[in-house]
Amino acid sequence: MSAPSRNAYVPFVSVDNMMKLVLHIGIERMMADLAAEIEADFRRWPLFDKTPRVASHSDIGVIELMPTSDGETYGFKYVNGHPSNMKKGLQTVTAFGLLADVATGYPLMLSEMTILTALRTAATSAMVAKWLAPRGATTMAMIGNGAQAEFQALAFKEICAIREIRLYDIDPAATAKCARNLTGRGLNVVSCTTPEEALLGAQIITTCTADKQNATILTDNMVGSGVHINAVGGDCPGKTELHRDILLRSGIFVEYPPQTRIEGEIQQLAPDHPVTELWQVISGTATGRQDARQITLFDSVGFAIEDFSALRYVHGRLQASGLYLDLDMIADPDDPRDLFGMILRAAA
Ligand SMILES: NC(=O)c1ccc[n+]([C@@H]2O[C@H](COP(=O)([O-])OP(=O)(O)OC[C@H]3O[C@@H](n4cnc5c(N)ncnc54)[C@H](O)[C@@H]3O)[C@@H](O)[C@H]2O)c1
Repeated sequence: MSAPSRNAYVPFVSVDNMMKLVLHIGIERMMADLAAEIEADFRRWPLFDKTPRVASHSDIGVIELMPTSDGETYGFKYVNGHPSNMKKGLQTVTAFGLLADVATGYPLMLSEMTILTALRTAATSAMVAKWLAPRGATTMAMIGNGAQAEFQALAFKEICAIREIRLYDIDPAATAKCARNLTGRGLNVVSCTTPEEALLGAQIITTCTADKQNATILTDNMVGSGVHINAVGGDCPGKTELHRDILLRSGIFVEYPPQTRIEGEIQQLAPDHPVTELWQVISGTATGRQDARQITLFDSVGFAIEDFSALRYVHGRLQASGLYLDLDMIADPDDPRDLFGMILRAAA
């Protein structure tokens, strides 16, 4: 049996290699790099293909496909969200993704994206906070201390100069895990036993909980003027974290309105409630924070362009790092029309 052609092979970044890449680059450095990549792509937002992600819902979770293209490169991510998974010893969110060459349609790279999603979500949150958070913010409350939490904390340390993280989770074991993982990483970590305690002195509030319902992680009276809210966990129809009254008091910033109106906190509001698109703030055509008293809210749901930026970043480091495996993934017969004959020759 002859060996597959060179075109048959697609570089595959396994979980093992992704972990090695993160450790090689450094986790904070990699999130700062990703934030820069994502910000650069937000500046060229109009040229991307954009569509709300394609979601398949069940009673207990969702499986989604997130495609986009900049005309030269195409990317998609497969991602799930199953809040009840944790009790079965499984992750709430898992993902993998692919980049392809628009000119030929041939894949350029297949990659794990469970780790990469945590990195890109935190990088996006911190990049957005850099634009919207009150000046001189040094303290962040972190409500929800699950898989994403440490990534969020370290991205805000690296990109927004946050020095104190105040942790709260309904499960104290999650807070203990998060505090342990953040030890010795340059943050003052305070473990709290109520959400109110976590909010003390916080200029930035990150909510990153998982519950398949309209939860109320923050009530209106918990949120003072001038704070920035980074709302990460409300990202599905019927799955929100903030009381509606908070939204009515906030300047609301979103990734892609057609997707966020379905999935974000703003699903609780009228379909024409005013929101600001982040790419416009970043490219200078819309105002970010208006004054020191405004509550700014990043209604984060995660958009395909952030995954595209992250995949392209990893792809750009493949040759230098060598951290990939070649997968025999594309059937590529010598005579493109002889796919059938290729199978027959394999029997010889
Ligand atoms: N916006 C985005 O781009 C994006 C990306 C990735 C994940 N997410 C979402 O972020 C959320 C967190 O993801 P994860 O992987 O860390 O999940 P996870 O299940 O690992 O952690 C969630 C944590 O929230 C805690 N929690 C649940 N209800 C709470 C409450 N009322 N108060 C305080 N804590 C509570 C749980 O105990 C758990 O520790 C999920 O909802 C996920 O869908 C969003």
